[in-house]
Amino acid sequence: MNPLLASLHAYPFERLKQLFANVTPNPKYRPISLGIGEPRHATPQLVLDALARSTAELAAYPPTAGSPALRQACAGWLQRRYGVSVDAATQILPVNGSREALFAFAQAVVNPRAGNATVICPNPFYQIYEGAALLAGAAPYYAPSDPSQNFNINWDVIPGETWSSTQLAYVCSPGNPTGAVMPMRDWEKLFELSARYGFVIASDECYSEIYFRDDPPIGGLEAAVKVGLTDFKNLVAFTSLSKRSNVPGMRSGFVAGDAAILKQFLLYRTYHGCAMSGMIQVASIAAWNDEAHVVANRQMYREKFAAVTPMLAEVLDVRLPDAGFYLWAAVPGGNDEAFARDLFAQYNVTVLPGSYLARRAGGNNPGTGRVRMALVAETAECVEAAGHIVAFVKGRQNK
Ligand SMILES: Cc1ncc(COP(=O)(O)O)c(C=O)c1O
Repeated sequence: MNPLLASLHAYPFERLKQLFANVTPNPKYRPISLGIGEPRHATPQLVLDALARSTAELAAYPPTAGSPALRQACAGWLQRRYGVSVDAATQILPVNGSREALFAFAQAVVNPRAGNATVICPNPFYQIYEGAALLAGAAPYYAPSDPSQNFNINWDVIPGETWSSTQLAYVCSPGNPTGAVMPMRDWEKLFELSARYGFVIASDECYSEIYFRDDPPIGGLEAAVKVGLTDFKNLVAFTSLSKRSNVPGMRSGFVAGDAAILKQFLLYRTYHGCAMSGMIQVASIAAWNDEAHVVANRQMYREKFAAVTPMLAEVLDVRLPDAGFYLWAAVPGGNDEAFARDLFAQYNVTVLPGSYLARRAGGNNPGTGRVRMALVAETAECVEAAGHIVAFVKGRQNK
């Protein structure tokens, strides 16, 4: 077997299963999970209709590069959303959701034979980045999110020798789990570093359409154009329909950016055999071309967060994030595992310990003392869970 497989860490939900293994949740309450970040709003009818009318696509092998119509739909969306022009033929590739693409990208980009191959991962993070780095034969460098900078990463704290060996940097904006949107000045810094040290930036933007401020989150390609990087050199953005259009089961997204990198990535993907089904391509075109369902979806999240956040802020150190569908809350007492376990036992509400979403680095696990709550269920269910959390925290305080 590939010995690198042994370096992979247990997935956060496996650890959660172990944490809850000997706990019997209070049967007085129905189970409510704020654990998994899986969208649960309804899939738009226009996507279902497109799937229903495209079954003939199953009779042919789809091209790995995607149909010209799909690439055009993705390019059109980038233009409308970010004001960015890309060449649909060379600067776009469809992918089967951003997860597989984020993973596969490291396999295509990283040269494990170059000394100390390093991949920058945010910390806390989406664990796929770490696994992708490890299986590509690189060492992850965990860049801490800084609570004093709205949970963004201070790129200045990463030493020069780390940048020298960095081949790939994952950034996640809006962030999972923090909800932080990386500001323009941090993009500028990162572009400067990439130009100086020659590493590739993988910009994970799968939460870009769920936001709570007036201005939509800035995208990597948009930031690049603002600093004159119009060829997107060493930059690839990862976008997904899963959260935008409530189709996590469809497995559809796309990558866009540096044409030279995407050419090599397409080569990799051709061997990997991960062409998107023709049916999914047709449904994806319908989804990218419609914005009304996205606006309605965002409004549902806004109403949900407006109802839940103030309730929780009464008892936890938590505030409305910039974007995404998570609350990233500090828990009283600072023991995130005990908080999650006892909350589950007493109220049958599942939250994810923050330390499971981060690694100890520089003597500190930046997830410790926090929990992630995914507000993906309907508002009433999230409000019910928030009520239980309030009662739970107050009950602990009175002990
Ligand atoms: C930060 C982040 N990136 C990427 C993904 C993958 O999403 P998908 O593969 O559905 O596009 C997720 C899923 O939860 C995520 O949280």
